[in-house]
Amino acid sequence: ARAPLSCNLGRRGSSMEEAVRCAVEGGQCIEDTQVFAERNGFAHTELVGVCKSLAAGDFITTEALSRQVLQLTKEGEAIVADGSPEAIVFAHVPADGGILSDNLDKLVGPTAKVGLSKAIQSKWLQVVKEPLAQAEAAAAAAAEAVGAKKKDAAKKRVLRVASEISDVVQIQLKAVKTGNPPSDPDLTVLKKRGLVSLATIKSFKVAAGSQYANWGKKAIADLSHEMLVKGTWQDSTFKQVNIDAGGLPPPGGALHPLLKVRSMFRETFLEMGFEEMPTQQFVESSFWNFDALFQPQQHPARDAHDTFFIKTPASTLDIPREYMERVRTTHEVGGQGLSDEYNSKSTGWRYDWSEEESRKNLLRTHTTAASSRTLFKIAEVAKKQGGQFKPQKYFSIDRVFRNEALDATHLAEFHQVEGFVIDRNLSLGNLMGTIADFYRRLGPEFKDMKFKPTYNPYTEPSMEFHCYHEGLGKWVEVGNSGVFRPEMLRPMGFDEDVQVIAWGMSLERPTMIKYGYDNIRDLFGHRIDLNMVRKHPIVRWA
Ligand code: PHE
Repeated sequence: ARAPLSCNLGRRGSSMEEAVRCAVEGGQCIEDTQVFAERNGFAHTELVGVCKSLAAGDFITTEALSRQVLQLTKEGEAIVADGSPEAIVFAHVPADGGILSDNLDKLVGPTAKVGLSKAIQSKWLQVVKEPLAQAEAAAAAAAEAVGAKKKDAAKKRVLRVASEISDVVQIQLKAVKTGNPPSDPDLTVLKKRGLVSLATIKSFKVAAGSQYANWGKKAIADLSHEMLVKGTWQDSTFKQVNIDAGGLPPPGGALHPLLKVRSMFRETFLEMGFEEMPTQQFVESSFWNFDALFQPQQHPARDAHDTFFIKTPASTLDIPREYMERVRTTHEVGGQGLSDEYNSKSTGWRYDWSEEESRKNLLRTHTTAASSRTLFKIAEVAKKQGGQFKPQKYFSIDRVFRNEALDATHLAEFHQVEGFVIDRNLSLGNLMGTIADFYRRLGPEFKDMKFKPTYNPYTEPSMEFHCYHEGLGKWVEVGNSGVFRPEMLRPMGFDEDVQVIAWGMSLERPTMIKYGYDNIRDLFGHRIDLNMVRKHPIVRWA
């Protein structure tokens, strides 16, 4: 018997939850949630949701049930509403004289054919040949005489056989609906005609669970300091710990391949005693990106086709005045007209240098812009210390931008790795030795190296260097290098015997070699798959 007090429906929580609580009280159970839902006017899916959350707290237990029920198909429902096709057809056949079959088709529509054949089977109706009119019969006979196939030109007439019928199929389907389906063979016929079908209904048997007595009390997940101090843990219900649950894969711990290679390069530079240059400015002036590097203003790289220029602010204000004038003179006439301290003993590019052009802002096209800034600072410090010059090594790894057509190996923004060494009397031998040393440290892929002469406006001599790529089976260009020209260093104020050896390369190229990418767009840019990063949790660099 239900205790009225404890089973006051709707007293707390949802009424559905309360109904479940009452139904399983005192050892009772809900035999089938489907039936229970129907009886109480609940939506079954909603009830199942409530049961699942109650079961999670062990307030109830659930046992899955599966049961097959007969359901009417759409066609079956239509018959319950309007009658079976055979009954409809029968109704359209006048008791007196019947009807021409063509007319019957027009009256009844698409179900006429099935209806008629079923009605004939049930001996409700019959079909007879309509005798031909005299002229028609004569024409048919003449055609036959000259060898034409015998043509069944006769019309058909449908006549009643039974005087009264009862729509058995409709009666049977109505019975299915009220849960009293006919037995075989009638049921099989209904199934074969596609009027009823079997559906599987999943539901649950529900009983009180181990936490039934704590109904509604939320189980506590973690024991707290406060609960221990106050002793409240003794009256608390704790959530069971599922020690079989699989852990979540950690979302962190994976570095983008470019970052791995970058930290690898950085470590190698640091090991070799290099310091990192500040590079945190993507926007640079043409002055530091080109002019300070003795790159003439007509150089094709300074065209908008190769460089992204900035619209706002379009030009730079702060360029050191005196140094800028020395750069102008060096571009225009070389060292002539400059004091011995800055004279590069060159004849310059011989054109009218434009200050406006050099103030134009752009997205830096190479990190050599950072190198020129750093070298100028080193010269300024040396000047302040009475010409005391300290040999130094610097590196940078950061982003650069070029107005390129994008393809499998070119992006409009990528990363450059750059290093330089400044000291007195450095030679081409020092440059080749330093680069070879650097790449040997990176791994066996870079063991074999070839140097090849090239041209840069700011280095002389200049050399590309190539490494043999096992995967591609050929030599690939890895970087570019050279000895900075006196036309770049002298206007900064460096002594004549001070040399800077430098080299630069993209970060993407060696990363592609190392991680086996053949399309740069899979590695960097807006189209990369973030899962790619998660799939690379281990640094592969040897
Ligand atoms: N700045 C050159 C480039 O963009 C690389 C380079 C750096 C060449 C230093 C010589 C010296 O490819």
